[in-house]
Formats: sequence, C-alpha cells, structure tokens
Amino acid sequence: MKAFILKRYGKKEKLELAEIAEPVLKEHDVLVQVHAAGVNLLDSKIRNGEFKLILPYKPPFTLGHDVAGVVTKVGSSVTKFKAGDAIYARPADHRIGTFAGLIAMNENDAAPKPKNLSMEEAASIPLVGLTAWQALVEKGNLKKGQKVFIQAGSGGVGTFAIQLAKHLGATVATTTSRTNIDLVKSLGADIIIDYKKDDFETILKDYDLVLNSQDTKTLEKSLRVLKPGGKVISISGPPDPGFGQQINANWFLKIILKFLSAGIRKKAKRHGVNFSFLFMRAQGEQLSQITKLIESGIIKPVMDKVFPFEQTNDAMSYVEMGRAKGKVVIKIQ
Ligand SMILES: NC(=O)c1ccc[n+]([C@@H]2O[C@H](COP(=O)([O-])OP(=O)(O)OC[C@H]3O[C@@H](n4cnc5c(N)ncnc54)[C@H](OP(=O)(O)O)[C@@H]3O)[C@@H](O)[C@H]2O)c1
Repeated sequence: MKAFILKRYGKKEKLELAEIAEPVLKEHDVLVQVHAAGVNLLDSKIRNGEFKLILPYKPPFTLGHDVAGVVTKVGSSVTKFKAGDAIYARPADHRIGTFAGLIAMNENDAAPKPKNLSMEEAASIPLVGLTAWQALVEKGNLKKGQKVFIQAGSGGVGTFAIQLAKHLGATVATTTSRTNIDLVKSLGADIIIDYKKDDFETILKDYDLVLNSQDTKTLEKSLRVLKPGGKVISISGPPDPGFGQQINANWFLKIILKFLSAGIRKKAKRHGVNFSFLFMRAQGEQLSQITKLIESGIIKPVMDKVFPFEQTNDAMSYVEMGRAKGKVVIKIQ
C-alpha cells in the first residue's frame, strides 16, 4: 500500500511517499481503508522529534492521527464492527499512521462515522473532538451555568470545544484575531477577545475552567482569571506527574515530568487553583458519544482546507503556519 513515511526526525524533513507492507491484523483489530486523514500539529511535532522521549517511534514510520474510512477486514475477536462499516477514529499511540491506504487499529479506538458527514468532514473530528471531550467533560466536569475560557477559538480544538461547552450549558469566552470573530460567534462563543488588541486577563474574572492551548505566559495569566478552586487544563504543556502515570513512564521520565511542571503547579497552588496537563488518548466510546452530537446537529465540523494525498507535506506546512480556521484534512480515496 502507499503511505507517507518519515525516514528521519527533523524540522526540515519531509514525509516520503513509499510503497510499504499492509498492516498485520491482531485479534481485536479492524483493518480500515483510509478515505480521509485529519492533520494535526502533533504530526509535525513528532516529525520534529519533540515527542521522542514520550512517544519513541522508530523511523521509518507513517504519520497521521485521524482517520475516516471503511472497515475491510476484522480480527477473529472483533464484535463491534464488520466489513463494510464506515468508521472514524484517532488510533492509539504507537499504532498511528493514517497517511496511508490502510490502517489497523483496536476496535475499541473506533466509532461509527456520523452519517451526516462526508469522509473528509469525519476525518477532521476525532483528535480534536476527543481532546475537547476529555478536557471539558472528563477532566473539567464542566456544568451548566459555569464559565469556561477556551483559548484560540478558531483553531481545530477551539472550534469543537466552543460548540461542546455551549451544549453543556456553559458561558464561553474565547480568544481569536479580528478575521475570525464571526466564525467563533457563529459557533456560540459569548465573550470574544481579539488577542492582538486586548489582554484577556483584564476582561475575564472568576472563571471555573480554562482550556489552555498557548504558551507559558498565557498559561500563567490563565491562573489569574480563575475563581478559587477553578481549573486550568493545559493541552500545550508542561506535562505533569499525572501524565507520567498515564503513559507508564519510567522513574527517570517521571522525575523529568515532575520537574517540568513544578513551577506552574506551585503558582497554581499559590492562587488556590488547580493545574493539570492533558494528553488526549484514543477512546472509541467517547467518540461514539460525539457521533450522536454530530448526527443531532449539535456539533458541526469546521473545515479550513482539504488537500489531495500527494500534497500531504503541504497540508502539514499549512497547519504549521498556525492560522488554520478549523481543520485541515487529506483526501486519500
Ligand atoms: N495535549 C493534547 O492532547 C493536544 C490535543 C490537540 C491539540 N494540542 C495542542 O493544542 C494546540 C492547539 O491545537 P489546534 O489543533 O487547535 O491548533 P490549530 O488549529 O493549528 O490553531 C490554529 C488557530 O490558533 C489561533 N491562534 C494562534 N495564536 C493564537 C493566540 N495567541 N491566541 C488565540 N488564538 C491563536 C489561530 O487564529 P488566528 O489566525 O486568528 O490567530 C488559528 O485559528 C497545539 O499546540 C496542539 O499541538 C494538544
């Protein structure tokens, strides 16, 4: 099958189109013909080598963390899917590789594709949808009437998270630049801050939850917009000791993670608020819940651009510019 593989780590490295062996199916796996693959900054960060310590992929390997496609074969113990089913997924870490003709994954990582979405639209959802779900629902326990600040409302995570938070009944504040104000308004954001003009710290007060996706300075400011007991959940680092447990890190890595987040944890404590890092994980059950929200029209995909398969490197460069309005997807079939 054809796949875009990474032969060497490095910021300047390009993925190469290669002919590689088809994936081997395990007992609980489904084999999926990839129709479309979502592009995420995580793909670029892995290519750059920024995740080597946490996710030690050995080149050559195939990148790509989001897929929509059709099941072509199932392992002997699979119960949830059969050949011909349309699914979407964020395959688990260590089993990524959606920039390819086929991918095998555990059936528990997949969910039925929303019927009202095209393959390209469906492929835009899993990683950002699960990130928003795990931040707002699972970790954040966001409730009706609460106030949440979602940074970068026009990005992949932001466009999904705003819609989910509104569905949960929260008041949503977000940051974006002038050109994207109408977009985040259309998604339901209540308080919109042009981050190039205004400082959110002077506008927001007594928030229950912040979804932080920006730099350290923004993270530190976020502590100050929370009410006592409020939570900041950061998806842009620094990783914390809880993450060390999640990935079963060895003692050495655990010490590093503890050290990396020591400063912000101390500052959060001083402010009487809670800091935690989230690294999203594959989760088919949660993705099935997301399918229901999409099929009932509560959440809509926000698509920026679809690239043909041959232009996979261009799609990654486009995302790396950091200006995407919603999601970027590669059409494979
Ligand atoms: N830990 C996890 O599990 C996890 C999961 C998903 C993503 N992430 C991380 O979260 C971050 C966001 O991911 P993403 O996929 O949403 O990114 P993205 O789609 O590439 O974000 C692009 C958007 O960010 C906006 N933006 C850029 N700088 C901004 C700023 N200073 N303030 C407010 N908005 C700003 C841009 O709007 P303008 O053009 O208007 O500036 C653009 O619409 C990335 O670092 C990603 O790696 C982590």
